[in-house]
Amino acid sequence: MPVIGPWHAGTLRPSASGGQPSGPPGPNAQPYTRQGSADWCTKISHSLGTGDGIHFAIVDANTDRLLGTVGLKKTDWRGLVSEIGYSVAPWARGRGIAAEATRTIGHWLMVDHGFQRMELKAATGNLASQWTALKACLQREGIMRNAGFIHAGRVDLVLFTLTPDDLKSQFDHDQSRANTADHR
Ligand SMILES: CC(C)(COP(=O)(O)OP(=O)(O)OC[C@H]1O[C@@H](n2cnc3c(N)ncnc32)[C@H](O)[C@@H]1OP(=O)(O)O)[C@@H](O)C(=O)NCCC(=O)NCCS
Repeated sequence: MPVIGPWHAGTLRPSASGGQPSGPPGPNAQPYTRQGSADWCTKISHSLGTGDGIHFAIVDANTDRLLGTVGLKKTDWRGLVSEIGYSVAPWARGRGIAAEATRTIGHWLMVDHGFQRMELKAATGNLASQWTALKACLQREGIMRNAGFIHAGRVDLVLFTLTPDDLKSQFDHDQSRANTADHR
């Protein structure tokens, strides 16, 4: 079962990452050095939490193995808007882990912290990320032209968002499904 928690010095130890090359998995990251990985776990992921955002490791609750990363960035504290980003390690893909983490973070951000909007921006060619956003109940708002860059160059981005109303709709939907199941 995947769980979300803070990065720490042990997150990337070989037994935690299942013997895979260490380094937080990410789409645009250059290969991580051992020092770079250590810095991410103990300093960088935490310093982001002081203003721009916050970053978590996704690990397997039973084995402690690193599965991925999820975090918030570009936080607008006045407007109560933040942007989610995620990646799942190649060895853990195909189980919907990013969607589950996104649902958890979205709920935490809005219910526990009163935020009004969470954004996700995916390159138009990144279908896995777009499916992830939809599975996490984000709404597709449209295309941001030439707004992103990946290794291959500049790309259009698809903007997805979650608001408190979306969470409420999802809750109502889940309740009515549960009630239907009870009456079977
Ligand atoms: C995006 C990412 C986090 C999703 O990982 P994941 O949680 O394991 O997601 P899954 O592999 O379970 O896929 C989620 C959905 O996308 C679909 N999908 C996956 N790859 C796909 C592809 N290449 N084309 C079309 N659909 C795809 C899956 O079928 C699944 O939908 P389903 O449950 O209805 O079958 C992962 O692919 C990743 O880390 N990519 C690199 C980093 C990245 O792009 N981050 C997002 C930046 S915006």
